[in-house]
Amino acid sequence: MSSASNKSADPRGILIVDLGTQYAQLIARIVREAGSWCEIAPPSLALAKAQAMNLGGIILSGGPASVYADDAPQVPVELLDAGVPVLGICYGMQWMCRTLGGEVTPADEREFGHTSIVIEQARDLFQDVEGRTVVWMSHGDQVTALPAGFEAYAASDTCASAAVGDRARRLYGLQFHPEVSHTVRGREIVENFLISVCEMPSDWQADSIVEREVARVREIVGETGEVVLGLSGGVDSSVAALIVDRAIGPRQHCIFVDNGLLRTGERETVEQTFREHFGLDLTVVDASERFLARLKGVVDPEQKRKIIGHEFVEVFREEAKRFSNAGYLGQGTLYPDVIESVAVHGGNTAMIKSHHNVGGLPEDLEMDLVEPLRELFKDEVRAIGRHLGLDEIVVGRQPFPGPGLAVRIVGEVTPEEVAILQEADAIVTGEIEAAGADEGLWQYFAVLLPVKSVGVMGDARTYENACALRVVESRDGMTADWTYLDHELLRRISNRIINEVRGINRVVLDISSKPPSTIEWE
Ligand code: XMP
Repeated sequence: MSSASNKSADPRGILIVDLGTQYAQLIARIVREAGSWCEIAPPSLALAKAQAMNLGGIILSGGPASVYADDAPQVPVELLDAGVPVLGICYGMQWMCRTLGGEVTPADEREFGHTSIVIEQARDLFQDVEGRTVVWMSHGDQVTALPAGFEAYAASDTCASAAVGDRARRLYGLQFHPEVSHTVRGREIVENFLISVCEMPSDWQADSIVEREVARVREIVGETGEVVLGLSGGVDSSVAALIVDRAIGPRQHCIFVDNGLLRTGERETVEQTFREHFGLDLTVVDASERFLARLKGVVDPEQKRKIIGHEFVEVFREEAKRFSNAGYLGQGTLYPDVIESVAVHGGNTAMIKSHHNVGGLPEDLEMDLVEPLRELFKDEVRAIGRHLGLDEIVVGRQPFPGPGLAVRIVGEVTPEEVAILQEADAIVTGEIEAAGADEGLWQYFAVLLPVKSVGVMGDARTYENACALRVVESRDGMTADWTYLDHELLRRISNRIINEVRGINRVVLDISSKPPSTIEWE
């Protein structure tokens, strides 16, 4: 391929080749936060995409395969010769080194988790990153012989090629994952690649994102189409609604579905905020009975999600019939919702959970989707929300999953359990917010466990459920760390739940990070 694209009118962009990682979107987010446009493509579309873009650099992601596996993803080799810098991460590095004549072999010991590396050359990707630093490793194979022209930039105790590069050809490889927050200086390393090596400009900002998405909605919906949009009151659907509003105004009809799996007071707040304050056309549908009836006896998490997704769509479909030309379903689907369910753009990413607004859609939907946030991250959505004048209360609200409390009641969901969890959750939320301890937290909530244990209340024996307290910090929901709350606050929450909520006699603390756990329990 030619060394530079002639699409000089487009913003310069980084092409991220998704080789099956869970983290392609995280890489994209870091690139965009550095103010650079980027796109993601699976290997099969990478060459065409590279030729169509005003290409500034290429990042080859990690992936679960071994380069020796029969179905190992293959990157078009032309990309190594595209005249722009290339950064290979984990599998991407192994593929690049092997393709260029190096050797990759299974390591004696699998390297997983926090690992200390020593920077041997503090330049290029490691400019101003000196000495020892902690990175996140997750690999079985490793590069044992470098291709001609390459040299090691960093090493760990068990991996001599933790980072490698060929300065002359501007090809670099990292065995660790700079995109996950556990890699302490990962962001700087990626930024060094973008700014020092690729010389990317910083021209990707909230106003250009809004402009692009408004134009896309207009293109999809046309001059006369109407959109029915599921408005939950969370930041995602609120921002989606405002973008669609900018694009087509009163041809958007917002629907709030009370599925009986909401937190206390949620429905009332949403009605007040969006109908009265924002003046949107909002209909509230009370569908709690039918959702709970469908969930009766169902214990499998995936099954629960699918049922809920299906019911949502049925409600939207029924509502859409009230309008003459509502052939479009609007949703606040985000990149992370998509990446963990199906492969974005046909990429290789393995499925973990089917999020309701993606996995639950039927084949015969008969409505086209309008998802203005489908390629954006939470941070970007929040920035856009502020840019569009959304209140900080909405912009900063903690995420709440589409399937609601159903994925926080482990096992079968009954109306009685929903009521118990609502009470416990209101205590958790209320106490944490009253103490001002919500600052910096991503989510804080209660989970009802199908575990009964013995307790004593007054003089009587109790035999009731346990509830888990889940408090996490995260930047985007893709990775998360559990957080410790102040001792007195924990004591207050626990005392109040056990004393006030009939049905719970034990509170436990969830101290699991993501990965390997997930934030929600189901
Ligand atoms: P997990 O449990 O996958 O959650 O670590 C990551 C983030 O996504 C939220 N979440 C959902 N959001 N529909 C949504 O809109 C869903 O089905 C869904 N499931 C999880 C979760 O609350 C966390 O912030």
